[in-house]
Amino acid sequence: MDVCRFLKRKDWDTHPLIAGYRWSNTFYIHSQSLFFSFMLKDLILRNRSYRRFYQNEEITEEQLRKWLELARFSASGRNAQTLKYILSNTREKNDKIFGTLAWAGFLEDWPGPSEGERPSAYLVQVLDKEISTQYYCDDGIAAQSILLGAVEDGYGGCILRAINKPMLAKELYIPEQYEIINVIALGKPNETIVIDELKDGDYKYWRDENGVHHVPKRVVDDLVVKDGY
Ligand SMILES: Cc1cc2nc3c(=O)[nH]c(=O)nc-3n(C[C@H](O)[C@H](O)[C@H](O)COP(=O)(O)O)c2cc1C
Repeated sequence: MDVCRFLKRKDWDTHPLIAGYRWSNTFYIHSQSLFFSFMLKDLILRNRSYRRFYQNEEITEEQLRKWLELARFSASGRNAQTLKYILSNTREKNDKIFGTLAWAGFLEDWPGPSEGERPSAYLVQVLDKEISTQYYCDDGIAAQSILLGAVEDGYGGCILRAINKPMLAKELYIPEQYEIINVIALGKPNETIVIDELKDGDYKYWRDENGVHHVPKRVVDDLVVKDGY
């Protein structure tokens, strides 16, 4: 589109310097967007829900803050930015959080990551009710931004909403002002996850005999409503 517009501009076409600059500028923009679309799909594909980690791989507060910055720049309903985060990357605090979480409901025989493969850090995403009692869909957008940042840096994680909230609030002495929304577990992934095509409506994720985690996903055609609306 841009290229066509530039070509129609007579002065840019005839002036070698301007045309050259515009061309290279245009090419630069186009090649950048091609680069980003490749990068984004790659990141999203790699951004699986990881639940087994190299527990002894540390995550620093600096890293957590770097990923949080991506949440900071993300969309927010009414731009109210009502979500905040409790950072955890110490053994003691991590253990407290871990004890309040329910992992992979469909894997009935698996109680969750065992000692040595647990997350190295957590972000407890809370709603600051003193700003507003609404958070619209900010929680998922922010969580995805955080996780994409982690994946880009060679880490990964999982959004957990199955939380014993009263217990977590008590364990971390979270004041009434904050409502727990999600926990984002983070670490250096130590598991293989593959995406399968979803068949016969069965969306349950599962693990094979080699411990590979399978996630069935609907094909794009099945995401399209075909009733002619
Ligand atoms: C809102 C939300 C809540 C989730 N809660 C949990 C949870 O409590 N425990 C868990 O193990 N996984 C949880 N997950 C992870 C999903 O199970 C996971 O996204 C799904 O199996 C698809 O896998 P994928 O993320 O690799 O595509 C949650 C994901 C989302 C988006």
